[in-house]
Amino acid sequence: MSPKLVRPAQKNDVLKIVAILKEVFTDTYGPALKQAVLESFLTQQFSEEKVAAELEHYRLAQFDNKVVGLLKLRSLAQQRLELEKLYISKEARAMGFGKLLIDDAVAGAGQLQAKCLWVKVWQENRGALAFYKARGFSKIGVTEVHVFETIFHDDVLAKVL
Ligand SMILES: CC(C)(COP(=O)(O)OP(=O)(O)OC[C@H]1O[C@@H](n2cnc3c(N)ncnc32)[C@H](O)[C@@H]1OP(=O)(O)O)[C@@H](O)C(=O)NCCC(=O)NCCS
Repeated sequence: MSPKLVRPAQKNDVLKIVAILKEVFTDTYGPALKQAVLESFLTQQFSEEKVAAELEHYRLAQFDNKVVGLLKLRSLAQQRLELEKLYISKEARAMGFGKLLIDDAVAGAGQLQAKCLWVKVWQENRGALAFYKARGFSKIGVTEVHVFETIFHDDVLAKVL
């Protein structure tokens, strides 16, 4: 059995990334969306073409040669990094993969000259808010995220690196 590891995404990971994005988005935000809206969003936002074009932003958590989670990072102005997504497949939660991906992002942030890590978290997503607070993130503001006509109220959290 191979150990837990974090690695950059490669071309042949696209289908697996799309599957995790769809599975975890549906599980986390699906109950707040109408079925038709959810389906349109999944098709539009998590296409193979879009993931392939943004592959360099993904880091993957792998265990026993199986991809079980992903983290997507994007550089912002003023030496900030945005953690756009941190999705662990349901079957692999509470096994340390979220922590592993955050630690990897923090360790790699220096190379990107980043001084601060940002993340937006839905205010109803209490588990994720607790997870980030335990990892040293603090609330610095609030924002709205639109999924077509549905508005999600998010906290903006930041961690100084
Ligand atoms: C939130 C999420 C990324 C956490 O990843 P994970 O791999 O399950 O978490 P880990 O096993 O690394 O847990 C690390 C720590 O956080 C805690 N934690 C994890 N999920 C938690 C939850 N839902 N509620 C409270 N604490 C939680 C763990 O108990 C653990 O604590 P410890 O360090 O004291 O042992 C994962 O549950 C997930 O993908 N959720 C759905 C998508 C989502 O909400 N993503 C975040 C918004 S972008």
